[in-house]
Amino acid sequence: MPKEKNEIIIELKAVTKRYGFGDAESFALHNFDLTVKRGEFIMIMGPSGCGKTTLLNIIGLLDRPTSGQYLLNDKSVDHISSRKKAQFRANEIGFIFQNFNLIPNLSVIENVSLPLIYSGHHKTRRLKKADEILERFHLREREYYMPYQLSGGQQQRVAIARSLISKPSIILADEPTGNLDSRSSHIIMEELRDIHAQGNTIIMVTHNPSLTTYATRVINMLDGEIDTDIKTVDDSELPRPGSPERISVRILSKKRPVELEVDSKTKVVVSGEHVTIGDSNSIDAVTKPKPKKKLAKKPRKKIKPEKKEP
Ligand SMILES: Nc1ncnc2c1ncn2[C@@H]1O[C@H](COP(=O)(O)OP(=O)(O)OP(=O)(O)O)[C@@H](O)[C@H]1O
Ligand SMILES: [Mg+2]
Repeated sequence: MPKEKNEIIIELKAVTKRYGFGDAESFALHNFDLTVKRGEFIMIMGPSGCGKTTLLNIIGLLDRPTSGQYLLNDKSVDHISSRKKAQFRANEIGFIFQNFNLIPNLSVIENVSLPLIYSGHHKTRRLKKADEILERFHLREREYYMPYQLSGGQQQRVAIARSLISKPSIILADEPTGNLDSRSSHIIMEELRDIHAQGNTIIMVTHNPSLTTYATRVINMLDGEIDTDIKTVDDSELPRPGSPERISVRILSKKRPVELEVDSKTKVVVSGEHVTIGDSNSIDAVTKPKPKKKLAKKPRKKIKPEKKEP
């Protein structure tokens, strides 16, 4: 049966997380309702202590709510066993943390292959898969490095590769660029943008408002509740699972139709007779033939017969 367009992947209903009792009682989340559709890229913002990490931990089944309901892929996960939760985490959810959380005494390839242990893959197969994904992240030559031998940006790329190896449907990232300089942050965000363009659902916590341009929805939290919730992209435009990394663009010009392939994240802007592909300094195709200019006839040059060498 074909999957319903923009199906709901996560549903939280009146979720509350309470710490302490009596005078010491406090709420990290309070009657929290949230519906996430497949293909959304949600950024969660809000002051320190407002409950962002608590929310991600509950969505990622690392923590359980005090009360309320949680439906993951349409199924209640409130009362499932720890074993089943671990299975869900291994197959459905990829985590990316601020401090990368790589295991220090395991090499890069071992770290990346780790989630596959829970999926029951044999070691050779695990390493082969890790090798493939590291190649995609241009980290193959660092495969046998230890985490301390990598820069912060590289460590985070390894952590992203690790979070993706079991092809999860949801990626949860808690301030993934919080410990990185702006250049490395940009690289990480471009990686996440690619992952999202392929139809993955991403929920990311950030303190950096400039990163919200990558999101399709921005939620501001305050004291364990949603303060504002703004969608910047219409549901119908969200990427679908298996969305192609490359798309073909057809330009129907009067002169001759042009068909070309571009990266799915490349901007294609049609303005009047001009189609601009990519940023301002890339191709600028003309959709209508330009009127021919009438050129004034040049007087023919008289060709003098060449003098023959004696
Ligand atoms: N184990 C715990 N025991 C008691 N209170 C806790 C516990 N974990 C979290 N809290 C409280 O819950 C609230 C929300 O914490 P949370 O870590 O979710 O905030 P946050 O929005 O992620 O903050 P930050 O931006 O600083 O990471 C805080 O007031 C915190 O003190
Ligand atoms: Mg936090």
